[in-house]
Amino acid sequence: MRLFVAIQIPENIQAALASLLQEFRAIAPHLKWVRAENLHLTLKFLGETDPAKRAAIEQSLATIHSPATVTLNFTGLGFFPSAKRPRVLWAGINASPNLQPLASEIDRSSLQLGFPAEDRPFTPHLTLARVSEPRFPPQLTDAIAANASRQFGSFTAHQFHLIESNLKSAGTEYTTLQSFSFVSEAPR
Ligand code: 2AM
Repeated sequence: MRLFVAIQIPENIQAALASLLQEFRAIAPHLKWVRAENLHLTLKFLGETDPAKRAAIEQSLATIHSPATVTLNFTGLGFFPSAKRPRVLWAGINASPNLQPLASEIDRSSLQLGFPAEDRPFTPHLTLARVSEPRFPPQLTDAIAANASRQFGSFTAHQFHLIESNLKSAGTEYTTLQSFSFVSEAPR
């Protein structure tokens, strides 16, 4: 099973991004656009995993906590690895400072279970499209520039999720296997 850990985003932010995705898809239908209901903030990609490991992964994720909720503000658009060599078009996220340690903690606990550690810095983002064409559509470059500082809303996250990804002919299907409330309970 192909697994990853992510924060799901609420419907109002999905809706704000859905209208942008619709506009962009009309301009460049050949890019691999993410469906709005599949948008998520990846914290850790586990990849192909032996189903026998699932219980240990869930046990380990259940021990990960942060002293506070995470605030996420969705704004701006950009490219990985760069605008000159666009492979991924993303919407940006300004996150509260406790998101990074939470992602690092998930990375550390995954390493203990045998998953390779991330070798790239954690950059919170929502992947909107994957680009495989050698030439990026110039009309889309203009539309992205026109929306470069657009705001898509904000929300307060208190859970992350273990998600299974299934590649189907109709597109990628995500199934939430388990949700984890990560905010430590206040000491009594
Ligand atoms: P991203 O889109 O947030 O960048 C589920 O497949 C998620 O895991 C994707 O949304 C992607 O994150 C991330 N992912 C997929 N393949 C990956 C890989 N080979 N290495 C790292 N992350 C990957």
